[in-house]
Amino acid sequence: MHSIRPVFWNGDSLQLLDQRLLPEKEEYLACKSVNDVTQAIRQMVVRGAPAIGVSAAFGMVLAAKTAVDRLLKENKEDHASKSSFSEMYTDLKEASALLKNSRPTAVNLFWAVEKILQKALKLENETLQNIVDGLEQEAEAMLREDIVTNKRIGDFGAELLPKKGTVLTHCNAGALATGGYGTALGVIRSAVARGKSIHVLVDETRPLFQGSRLTAWELRKDNIPVTIIVDSAAGHFLQGGYIQCVVVGADRVAANGDVANKIGTYALAVLCKENNIPFYVAAPISTFDFAMQTGSGIEVEERAAEEITSWKQTPIAPVGVAARNPAFDITPAYLVSALITERGLIFSPDADKLGNLPREGKMAD
Ligand code: MRU
Repeated sequence: MHSIRPVFWNGDSLQLLDQRLLPEKEEYLACKSVNDVTQAIRQMVVRGAPAIGVSAAFGMVLAAKTAVDRLLKENKEDHASKSSFSEMYTDLKEASALLKNSRPTAVNLFWAVEKILQKALKLENETLQNIVDGLEQEAEAMLREDIVTNKRIGDFGAELLPKKGTVLTHCNAGALATGGYGTALGVIRSAVARGKSIHVLVDETRPLFQGSRLTAWELRKDNIPVTIIVDSAAGHFLQGGYIQCVVVGADRVAANGDVANKIGTYALAVLCKENNIPFYVAAPISTFDFAMQTGSGIEVEERAAEEITSWKQTPIAPVGVAARNPAFDITPAYLVSALITERGLIFSPDADKLGNLPREGKMAD
């Protein structure tokens, strides 16, 4: 299996495989400051909920490094005296606000930034350099654990896929959207690794074509058969009996099981219900927002109209025409056949079932 590295840390900078350029070019962009990381998330150099989370964690590490350089230059002692720690922590809080402002829907970003802030507080009595080292180790662990988590999601989800058949997915919930391996595509990868014969149908996913540019690119690298369709063809194929199930990722799962995911996901779920086809959502626990009672409270990012009215700076609509561009929609829990997590499968999710899930701690053995 080809290994795709969307995000890696080289000790000084965060290296991001620039997803705006795929599939034509495989180029990494170096982020050397929290501002660079914020811009990269906003402009979707890196995208997908877990990948955004991990990137934000490294953004916080870069902010910590900058803060320590500044404090040392100003001759503050290299010891976490209460005052130098609190100055550094103030800088970290500012960095966290910047990052949290980049994209509002994927909860992994907020989760990752908070985890780094918590870690900094735990290291309060260490030297400034030890704090930076500790944060760097925390971010690296988050990246490693994300891949392990995806593989566990894959293990649980593979059981749900047919021995031989066609699976529809939307957007890109693959290696590119995570630390590596993928959630929805991880389920497909694991099923194929177990000898199942899966053909993937992927929506091209307007307006930024994450399906045709990214998912098709990933699956081709792994030699998994893939066919792209326009988003509006999904109903035709679901109705015609060509598809055995749909598997997608998530940007946020509310406490009652409602799911925020790429725009078009809700329509797919309704089409699945209408045609009696299982609709699965694969997501790590870091994508669950237990403080959000229902999906109606989730902020749906609205992106620039130009993403719809032009492509690579060439107009594809009358100049000046109005366009609305919500990047996500909310699928109610009752349309979800099962949530696939690293802790197991949750069939017909609801608030009670999610309430019984452990929030943090060790993954299921
Ligand atoms: O706007 P994007 O490309 O960041 O949207 C990504 C999705 O909607 C994914 O399905 C989701 O983040 C899950 S990624 C494992």
